[in-house]
Amino acid sequence: MYPDRVVSGMRPTGALHLGHYHGALKNWVRLQSEVPCLFFVADWHALTTHYDDPSVIETSTWEMLVDWLAAGVDPSQSTLFIQSKVPEHAELHLLLSMATPLGWLERVPTYKDQQEKLADRDLATYGFLGYPLLQAADVLIYRATQVPVGDDQVPHIEMMREIARRFNHLYGKEKGFEEKAQDAVKKLGSKRAKLYNELRTEFQQQGSAEALEQAKAMLDDAQNLSMIDRERLFGFLEGSRKLILSEPQALLTEASRLPGLDGQKMSKSYGNSIALRADKDVVTKQVRTMPTDPARVRRTDPGDPDKCPVWQFHLVYSDKPTQEWAAKGCRSAGIGCLECKQPVIDAIIKEQEPMHERAQQYLDDPSLVRAIVADGCDHARKLAQDTMRDVREAMGLGYN
Ligand code: TRP
Ligand code: SF4
Repeated sequence: MYPDRVVSGMRPTGALHLGHYHGALKNWVRLQSEVPCLFFVADWHALTTHYDDPSVIETSTWEMLVDWLAAGVDPSQSTLFIQSKVPEHAELHLLLSMATPLGWLERVPTYKDQQEKLADRDLATYGFLGYPLLQAADVLIYRATQVPVGDDQVPHIEMMREIARRFNHLYGKEKGFEEKAQDAVKKLGSKRAKLYNELRTEFQQQGSAEALEQAKAMLDDAQNLSMIDRERLFGFLEGSRKLILSEPQALLTEASRLPGLDGQKMSKSYGNSIALRADKDVVTKQVRTMPTDPARVRRTDPGDPDKCPVWQFHLVYSDKPTQEWAAKGCRSAGIGCLECKQPVIDAIIKEQEPMHERAQQYLDDPSLVRAIVADGCDHARKLAQDTMRDVREAMGLGYN
């Protein structure tokens, strides 16, 4: 019903690494040329876990934005902004909280997982429990259709969908809805109206998903409808409610998984990461000192690529012939590990060259980043305010 729109956010964790690039940013860069995209720094989310250490938020935010720009996120194609500068997110979070069952939040898997993982901090807080609900507000406020996320976040998207459905169910009631919907059907013109009614019956009586899709496609094409009539007709198809918030889809990144230097998940806190804008010399040294198959003690010992993190890097960075050269040379002890690593080093440096170039102008003149974000915040705020008008109205707060 609402046009395609991608929304995604990242917590400001400071300078990003190549795991972020291959896991998320590369995907953002591809998406921005296909669909209107909004990307934001989730600074409030950072506070849900690091509320006792707010000093790093500001620098981390700007550093991360430069990394996004360096990676090729293009402000002329996508909207970049900072969550806390669009306070409507907080208003929606609050309003959604009124009708969100506690159990929904408690059973989100990341809730217990993170509490166990980050056992050194007290995460038995109200803000931390509400993390996925704040995330729901981030997405629902833009009526996003797709949310690119890692697989750990899929339960959050599932919960958002339930929140949107519940919201529409509770607040999409309208006095005289049935009559208004019938009037809207008439406005489709007689041929389309007949088709609409047939497809609606088919969906409601036989549960035909195909009929539902076909009806939705027809409504998408019906140019002469007002937004409000369109909302009614979409709601009328499935039941007797307006659809005020829409249900987003998770967009799973077929992430080429780049592990850390030691083969574990790449993470700054594990000390196994390569910074996105690392110096050439640093990259060279980091890869040269990477652990390899522990069975290859001497140059003459054959190795097994499957037991070596360097091989994982070849899978991401090398073409087929290079991969074959490395695998064969490893198994036959035909090449040494340093030799094997060189193409990986070269490929990383080559990948990072344009990133350094793009970053330079922003490092020279940080006001450019401020201006990009100011524009992005303005744009995001307008969209958010449109949704909030409908939400307030639906929740009985539309009065002056
Ligand atoms: N929770 C996400 C993460 O940890 C960050 C995030 C916050 C987000 N709000 C979002 C992602 C909205 C997508 C959409 O990675
Ligand atoms: Fe790893 Fe390459 Fe050494 Fe084999 S030759 S152990 S794949 S670095």
